Amino acid sequence: MERPKLLFVNLRRIEREGLESLLAARRLGYDVVLLGRSLPAFAAPLVSDFCQVDTYDTAKALASARELAGRYDFVGVPSFTEIDVQLVAAIAAELGLPGMTAEAALRARNKYRMKQGLQGCGDVLPGYRRVRTLSELRDAVREIGFPAVVKPTGASGSKGIFELREEGDLEAAIGQLEKITRPQFDAVFRQFGAEFIVEEYLEGDEFSVEGLVAGGEVHVVMVTDKVTSVPYHLELQHTMPSTLPADALAEAKATTVRIVTALGFDNCAFHLEAKWGRRGMKFIEVAARPAGDYIASHLIPLSCGVDYFANVVRVAVGAPLDLEPDRDLHVALRFVLAERPGRFEGLDGIETVCADPGYPYVFFEHPAGTEVTLPPESFGLQRVAAVCARHVDRVGLDALLSTVDGAVSARVTVAESTPA
Ligand SMILES: Nc1ncnc2c1ncn2[C@@H]1O[C@H](COP(=O)(O)OP(=O)(O)OP(=O)(O)O)[C@@H](O)[C@H]1O
Ligand SMILES: [Mg+2]
Repeated sequence: MERPKLLFVNLRRIEREGLESLLAARRLGYDVVLLGRSLPAFAAPLVSDFCQVDTYDTAKALASARELAGRYDFVGVPSFTEIDVQLVAAIAAELGLPGMTAEAALRARNKYRMKQGLQGCGDVLPGYRRVRTLSELRDAVREIGFPAVVKPTGASGSKGIFELREEGDLEAAIGQLEKITRPQFDAVFRQFGAEFIVEEYLEGDEFSVEGLVAGGEVHVVMVTDKVTSVPYHLELQHTMPSTLPADALAEAKATTVRIVTALGFDNCAFHLEAKWGRRGMKFIEVAARPAGDYIASHLIPLSCGVDYFANVVRVAVGAPLDLEPDRDLHVALRFVLAERPGRFEGLDGIETVCADPGYPYVFFEHPAGTEVTLPPESFGLQRVAAVCARHVDRVGLDALLSTVDGAVSARVTVAESTPA
């Protein structure tokens, strides 16, 4: 008998996450037709048809989706990737499948429109302004004050996060931002280009809230504590469950429901980022797709047993969710950073973690041999590997993480002609 068909729009950039999304569909008894820019080799055996299209060209991609829908009776179009949130919403609307409105999808993709959509949640927003030029940035910072943060409105993956601590930082930040928001630098900037948001710098402990919205109902699955690098805010470590106090957690969950509802997110996964400080919870952003950095694909299942990606598929087809935890373990992901630019040769000390059952996974972010550069030259290369740790209690998890710190490092060689 033929299996019902899902339409996937691109796969997550990290292949292990993309693979898990396809396996989740298969586990639930669905066939996948992939519409996307390319068909990676690992995905070929798991898709029944592939339609190649430049998904940055919305009109063209929608036409291809329409054409595919003439051939296949799709039951859902799940949203796994950041850049395709609006396209997926448009396809779902056109095919009459569960999805979200175009307005909500735009708010999900643009950090300025998102904050504008949260007028009713003013208590948790930092001060913010949209700017395009140095003089607009100067005016905005005069109102918001130092310290502040300026970043592109349409990016993800911590590309171009600049802290502003004094007047002299403004010109350098705008210069760098104008350089990196050219679409040639990264296609993510094709939609919103050189448009930036300045925000008041939020102090406190950073965390993320992972959940799903189905038929207007918001479900929180996990709260994750996060550590980012100084000064460019690359994500360095995720740990779950969060160790925020119980009352803070309850407030964070309630505020998350308020924000996701106010933005009109529906029939999607979400990944909300915020800080907990002296003034309580302050909101950074929320994405209308599952968290990356293996959080949704690997860490949540390890920690609580919830099959998060299967639930992303269930949401897309309008099936009941299965969010019952079956365990409560402490899980972390610690990134290994290249400490200088050069050729990434491999990991020193990796035998220590591979031999210890406390570490279920080690992920290479780039193959050995990759030439790496560091921010602000590039934002996607410094994190060369990640080690996942799991323990029945938090003290044990922390001990596993400090072993990683002491034992594992990136081996980077510098060519004679390259300055170290
Ligand atoms: N207003 C702010 N105050 C303090 N820190 C901030 C602020 N805005 C951003 N950051 C820091 O920069 C990081 C990245 O910012 P943001 O999430 O807006 O960008 P992003 O490109 O979507 O990143 P990612 O995809 O990694 O989440 C945040 O996780 C946080 O550590
Ligand atoms: Mg973010």
